[in-house]
Amino acid sequence: MLTQLETLEEVFESALVGRGVVAEWERTFAEYCGVKYAFGTSSGTMALYFALKAVGVKVGDEVIVPALDWYAAAAVTLHLGAIPVFADTEPNLPTISPLSVQERITVRTKAIVATHLFGYPCNMPALRSLADRYKVALIEDCAQALGATCHGKKVGAWGDVACFSFGVGKLLSCGEGGMIMTDQDDIAERILALATHPLRQEWQGIEINPFALRSPLNPIAVIICLLREWEQLEKRLTERREAFERLSAALAETKVLRPLLPREGCRQSPYRFVALVPSKRMKRLVMEALWAANLPVSDVFGAKLLPNELAETLRKGQLYWHPFPDRLATAVSLPCPNAEAFLAQALVLDWRIGLDDEALNRLREILRGWSARKSVKSTGNEVKEDGDHL
Ligand SMILES: Cc1ncc(COP(=O)(O)O)c(C=O)c1O
Repeated sequence: MLTQLETLEEVFESALVGRGVVAEWERTFAEYCGVKYAFGTSSGTMALYFALKAVGVKVGDEVIVPALDWYAAAAVTLHLGAIPVFADTEPNLPTISPLSVQERITVRTKAIVATHLFGYPCNMPALRSLADRYKVALIEDCAQALGATCHGKKVGAWGDVACFSFGVGKLLSCGEGGMIMTDQDDIAERILALATHPLRQEWQGIEINPFALRSPLNPIAVIICLLREWEQLEKRLTERREAFERLSAALAETKVLRPLLPREGCRQSPYRFVALVPSKRMKRLVMEALWAANLPVSDVFGAKLLPNELAETLRKGQLYWHPFPDRLATAVSLPCPNAEAFLAQALVLDWRIGLDDEALNRLREILRGWSARKSVKSTGNEVKEDGDHL
C-alpha cells in the first residue's frame, strides 16, 4: 500500500501524481470489497451514471430505483432518458422491497438499483435471484454503506456493478469522489471505454474509444485525503460501532425509541444511527424533548421520498429535456406506503452520544420519564432536514 506523503510539495514533486496512485488506490479498494475491478470517478453520482450506461440502460428503458433514496440513482436514470420506476421499501426498514421490485418489473426493465440506505444492507440474496430470474442488471449503491456486510459478504460484491461515494460526510471522504466496481470482465471493459482517458485504455490493453466521457477521481485527493483516511478507517469503524452498540443498549431499556436493527444475517455500516418512534406526532415531540435536553437528534437526512420529489420537479418544468414526460407522470403515481410510514417514524440520533456517558444517561432519563408525561412543551425548534447539524 502506498504511504501518505506529508506535504503538498512532496505530492507535486512525486511521480505518483497520475495514473499510478489512482490505479493503486483502485486495487486496494477492490480488494477490500472482494471484487475484481474498481475505477475511480469524480463522484458517486457519476459512478452510478457509468454503471447504468455500462449495463446497457438506454433512452426509454425502465430502471427500478428505491422510492426512499438519495436523488442520485433516479437522477442518472433521468439523464439517460430512461424512466425511474419507484419500488417501495420493506416494512419498517429503509431498504428496497424485493416484493415491490418484482411487482414493478416489466419487459422494459433494464436494471434494479439497491441502495444500502443509512448503512443498512438490502436483502441481497432475494434481489440477486430476482435479477438473475428476469435477466436484468443489479446495481448496488453503497455510498452510505462502507463496511456493511450481508451474509458475510461485503456490500459491493453482490451486484453486477457497485458504486461508492467519497463525498463530504461519508465514512471515507476526500471532499468529492467516487468509485465504480465490477467482477465482470465485459462490464469492466465497457467502463474503461466509457469513462477513462484513451491513454489509460491503451495502457489497459482495450480497444481505444476516443469518445469517452471522462470524470476521473483526482489523484491529489487520493494522496492527501483517501490514503490518510484509509489508514484510520478500521479504527473509525470500530469506534462508531461501539458507540452504536451503547446507544442501542440505552434505547433497548425504553419503549419510546426503538433502535433500527439491520435485517438478519446483515451487518450495518455505522453511518447513521436510526431509531423509530411509534407515531408521526410522537416523533416531533420526542425530537423537541431531546433538543431541549441538548441531545443532538434530527429528522432523517440523506434520503427523500422520490416520487414526491419527482412530481414537484415535473410540476416546475425542470425536466423539460426528458423525452417521456407522460411516462414520468405515471411513474410518480405508484404507491409506496412503507416508505412513507418509515419516514414518518424514523429519526437520526448523533452517534457521538454513544461515546459520552453523561449524554447517554441524560438520554435514558428523558426516555424513561417520557411515558409518565402527558405532553412536552414546544422548544420552538423546527424539524431539521437535510444537513448534518449535529
Ligand atoms: C445513497 C447515495 N447515493 C449516491 C450519492 C451520490 O454521491 P456523490 O455526492 O459523491 O455524487 C449519495 C451522496 O450523498 C448517496 O447518499
